[in-house]
Amino acid sequence: MLRVGMIGLGGIARSHAQGIAELDDVEIVACADLIESTRAEYMDAYDVPKGYASHTELLEDPDIDAVGVVLGHHLHHRLSVDALNAGKHVLVEKPMALTLEQCDEMIAAAHANGVKLMVGLTNHFLPVNIKAKEILDSGELGPLITIVSYMSKNWNHASRRPQYRSRYHGGGMWLSNGVHVVDRVTWFMGSQAASVSASIGTRAHYQAGDDSATAFIRYKNGLAGVAVSVGFADGGPIHDTHVICANGSLKFAHSASGRGLWIGKNNSWDEVEYDYWPQNMRLEWGRFAEAIAQDIESPVPGEYGRHIMEILLAAETSELSRSEVLLDSGESWNSQAAGEPVQIQHGWV
Ligand SMILES: NC(=O)c1ccc[n+]([C@@H]2O[C@H](COP(=O)([O-])OP(=O)(O)OC[C@H]3O[C@@H](n4cnc5c(N)ncnc54)[C@H](O)[C@@H]3O)[C@@H](O)[C@H]2O)c1
Repeated sequence: MLRVGMIGLGGIARSHAQGIAELDDVEIVACADLIESTRAEYMDAYDVPKGYASHTELLEDPDIDAVGVVLGHHLHHRLSVDALNAGKHVLVEKPMALTLEQCDEMIAAAHANGVKLMVGLTNHFLPVNIKAKEILDSGELGPLITIVSYMSKNWNHASRRPQYRSRYHGGGMWLSNGVHVVDRVTWFMGSQAASVSASIGTRAHYQAGDDSATAFIRYKNGLAGVAVSVGFADGGPIHDTHVICANGSLKFAHSASGRGLWIGKNNSWDEVEYDYWPQNMRLEWGRFAEAIAQDIESPVPGEYGRHIMEILLAAETSELSRSEVLLDSGESWNSQAAGEPVQIQHGWV
């Protein structure tokens, strides 16, 4: 049984609890939030026996094996490092942290304490994405040519919590949601990024964080992908991903813009059936628990989360410099050399 302590009990912590409730080998044994009423409500709703007013108290609890770090982006680094140093496995929400130095510290703390670090990049656990990746990897569509992926949605500025409107706190559309798009393109590309060129700005709102980005990412396999992330003031949502191969194409989306998966062949699109259940948080925690039990690398390890951050941050540098920015990933994710096929070390490639 993996005994979990949930830190930060806001919106998405509920989805984590709902996912965990469906697993036989994972349970939430404690939770922590600064706000007493939030804590009490969460304990009641999800039958959590222990509640703490701070993450420091929770980390002293010897009955906890792993923690979920599920709060503001600016807190991910500090709380994850504290938890890893307390000997707990950590599943930290996206984006992993605010700088590459912070990501490096988190990775080093996991290694030093012999515990697992996983980044909650949920896209790896969405049934439609899993099915699409399975089709791409089967080779039936031939060699990959390019990928274009979107997350364009209402930013809901009025109700957006302040930390997500401020880049200082790691907010803005690009770090909050562009992270999913960059992850999708990179995961499907199955390669390490080599450079980024991007246009990023605050075009629809008055706030100290971006709301729109278009990034052109070159990968070491010689191919390129495009990531579009826009939080508009009004419009229609687009969550589509298009994958174009030499002998077939894929298009898929998991939410409002039309959930589904289609294969393109013979100049037409055929819808593909897939098993919509299980829900992504259940799979996310299930795969994390499996990695801990079997002592194998977590399905979305810190090294991969760091690489996604590297692309996001380089895109911001590209906007400021109005130029293509080369990445210096080193050995951080894998040791793929330019032009060589990706070395598969993790189940998620
Ligand atoms: N994977 C996804 O699809 C997805 C979706 C939504 C949000 N998220 C991510 O989840 C994280 C949390 O988002 P949210 O919108 O649920 O957050 P939120 O701001 O609603 O909630 C954070 C909670 O943490 C508490 N808190 C703050 N500091 C604390 C501390 N030191 N100790 C204990 N509790 C503390 C606050 O009181 C608050 O209740 C973010 O990283 C966000 O990007 C991921």
